[in-house]
Amino acid sequence: MNMTGNTIFITGGGSGIGQALARSFHALGNKVIIAGRRQAPLMETADACQGMIFHEIDMRDPASIERVAAWLVKKHPDLNVLINNAGVMPGDGTGARMDDQKTLATVETNLLGPIRLTSALIEHLKTRPDAVVVNVTSGLAFTPLAHAAVYSATKAALHSWTMSLRVRLAGTSVRVLELAPPWVRTGMMGSRDEPRAMPLDDFIKEAMEKFATDADEILVDRVRALRDNPGPNEWRFVAQFNGMPAQ
Ligand SMILES: NC(=O)c1ccc[n+]([C@@H]2O[C@H](COP(=O)([O-])OP(=O)(O)OC[C@H]3O[C@@H](n4cnc5c(N)ncnc54)[C@H](OP(=O)(O)O)[C@@H]3O)[C@@H](O)[C@H]2O)c1
Repeated sequence: MNMTGNTIFITGGGSGIGQALARSFHALGNKVIIAGRRQAPLMETADACQGMIFHEIDMRDPASIERVAAWLVKKHPDLNVLINNAGVMPGDGTGARMDDQKTLATVETNLLGPIRLTSALIEHLKTRPDAVVVNVTSGLAFTPLAHAAVYSATKAALHSWTMSLRVRLAGTSVRVLELAPPWVRTGMMGSRDEPRAMPLDDFIKEAMEKFATDADEILVDRVRALRDNPGPNEWRFVAQFNGMPAQ
């Protein structure tokens, strides 16, 4: 994608991967608008980057999504890049009685939210030359982690929907990209100091290099093993990945 001169809306831009993407794209000369539920981290992030704008959004709430989309089109009609990054990853009780509120929150935030926000902005994006939708999935879209089974399922569904969206938008001005991170050191699942996770700076540096290419899937080397989970041997791979004895 073009790396400069864009107007970019990033959900979940007040922390972790979204914040680091916001800072990197801002540094390259893009106009960046970040959004999330909590005002304080958004304000802090935007204050440190001259010209960065923030807005509150709740990706679980269809009315909030519609309001923000209408505000974007009206106040920032040059918007040409949407990065659906906001997400939650609670452990869930798959295999036992589950907490329905947790399941709902995960599906609404990670899957319905990006679908609804893209839907609300897509006709606008089609009017913009060089428009891009980026959906942030996960290596777990391809190889599920059983402790976060619903999370993994939402990311697999978002991956599937991303491919369909790419098909449906072929021949328009809108490109559809997927950023599938490996385990990265952010606040998600308390991984900020987790030595097994990829340092955030290293991840963003490699991801930004890949954004600058014409790749549809932004895959850093660390996620390759999960992404390349071999089809015919999928179950054996998933079982091994989840620490089950060899089948
Ligand atoms: N870190 C990893 O290892 C990893 C690996 C693969 C994929 N990912 C994906 O990368 C993305 C970013 O995650 P991260 O690691 O940067 O975690 P993070 O720091 O926890 O960021 C998640 C962001 O999503 C926002 N958010 C959550 N629920 C929301 C809602 N209902 N409405 C609006 N915003 C909401 C949060 O802001 P508020 O709480 O203020 O709303 C927060 O800024 C997620 O989609 C995640 O699934 C992360």
